[in-house]
Amino acid sequence: MEKIDWNSSSSVGAQLFDEQHKQIIDMTNLLISAPQATVRSETISELLAKLTKYASIHFRAEEKLLQENGYPDYALQKAEHKAYRIKIVALCQAAFIHKDSVPTELLMFLRNWWVNHILETDMKYRSFLTESGVK
Ligand SMILES: [Fe+2]
Repeated sequence: MEKIDWNSSSSVGAQLFDEQHKQIIDMTNLLISAPQATVRSETISELLAKLTKYASIHFRAEEKLLQENGYPDYALQKAEHKAYRIKIVALCQAAFIHKDSVPTELLMFLRNWWVNHILETDMKYRSFLTESGVK
């Protein structure tokens, strides 16, 4: 599976969020590059737990800034983040219970969700943050 490529055109216009997105992408790429590793191996389970925890921190930071500044599409952001949390818990549980390797479904979900969310949903707040003078 192809790794995620973060480049300058992936920037959402806020340094903190760009840094957080890069960390998340790095973790996802590590999982993509080790698809044969068992889910129960310490490295993979720790990485999945770390990614889940880090994504929550990132979502909270994004939601706080967008809500405080009256971002018009805040509800969509919150809804997508919530849907991610629900889906990733289900996929991780399934992976730990039934699989011996990191399931392709989990990797595909992580890859597609982050790419689409950053480039489409998050990118929508880029001009809002710039125009509002929020960085
Ligand atoms: Fe977001």
